[in-house]
Amino acid sequence: MTMSNKTVTVFGGSGFVGSQIIRELAAKGFMIKVATRVPERAYDLKPCGNVGQIIPIACNYNNDESIESALRDSDYVVNCIGILFERGKSSTFKKIHVDIPQKIAQACAENGVDRFVHISALGCDTGTSKYAKTKLAGEDAIKNAFPAATILRPSVIFGPKDNFFNMFASLSLYMPFLPLIGGGKTKFQPVFVGNVADAVLYALQEKKGESKGKTYHLGGPDIVDFKEIYQKLFKYTGRTKPLVNLPFAFAKFEALFLSMLPKPLLTSDQVESLKTDVIISQGALTFENMGIHPKSMDLILPLYLKMYRSGGRFSQKTA
Ligand SMILES: NC(=O)c1ccc[n+]([C@@H]2O[C@H](COP(=O)([O-])OP(=O)(O)OC[C@H]3O[C@@H](n4cnc5c(N)ncnc54)[C@H](OP(=O)(O)O)[C@@H]3O)[C@@H](O)[C@H]2O)c1
Repeated sequence: MTMSNKTVTVFGGSGFVGSQIIRELAAKGFMIKVATRVPERAYDLKPCGNVGQIIPIACNYNNDESIESALRDSDYVVNCIGILFERGKSSTFKKIHVDIPQKIAQACAENGVDRFVHISALGCDTGTSKYAKTKLAGEDAIKNAFPAATILRPSVIFGPKDNFFNMFASLSLYMPFLPLIGGGKTKFQPVFVGNVADAVLYALQEKKGESKGKTYHLGGPDIVDFKEIYQKLFKYTGRTKPLVNLPFAFAKFEALFLSMLPKPLLTSDQVESLKTDVIISQGALTFENMGIHPKSMDLILPLYLKMYRSGGRFSQKTA
């Protein structure tokens, strides 16, 4: 592998999306600093690069100097931090989706960072959930501090370690039924994690700087509702479960209890986010403008959902 002379800091690089971005950056020879609250979480990424190519560094987001030192001397910065539910005062949507990204963008501007890519979320401009509203406010805060930032808005992301298909596949193992919240009519455009990483690499590497200051909507080739998502799950796990309609109000009531779990299965805010479609808007910049052909669910899901197959991963059973 030819090593690049460029250094990239990836905030939240220990997560599902961040890890994939780091694997692709490493394959291209970039020097990578993984900014994380807990460096041990990023140790398993080190073998993805040469010795010393991937360096986990501790970042204390309550300390501006810590954020700045994580990106000092970096050419490029990628922000992947985000949460699905709030936890106490240290982990609120406003802090994680607005305040910290704003500080990172400010530090990028003050330290001569050339390109800054931020992972936002598709539907943040139309959504009524706190998640969506803070994601949109975060984009605005970033654009104020670093107008050349490239913003990527993915729909729900799938891939071997995703939190979406894996969660529903796990639920299908022991739940007597699966819920169709609000009738399951919300539309999604699931996107492969590898393609989200491709988009980040495009924004960092394209020669003309055309992606600077632009927002891209990232969705895969298929638009599906929740029922169709379950059908794919059943097809590739060989398991079926009855689908039960759960009106929004009832789902919110249920979420009161499920959100008390250490890792909440469902929160009231997630129910709220299911009220709006998460699909690419007309006229938006997309993968097409980056020359990327997004992979379909049917190509990727069988590769990792087979571990949930009834009768074991080598079973030939189909739903
Ligand atoms: N997954 C999806 O389907 C999806 C869809 C649309 C948009 N997105 C967005 O894509 C980004 C990456 O998502 P992901 O699925 O990779 O999430 P993830 O696996 O949960 O990783 C998120 C990262 O955020 C950091 N983080 C979490 N809580 C934090 C806190 N209280 N303070 C500081 N940092 C914190 C963590 O970094 P450390 O623990 O290393 O510090 C973690 O690695 C997020 O912005 C998310 O909103 C994801």
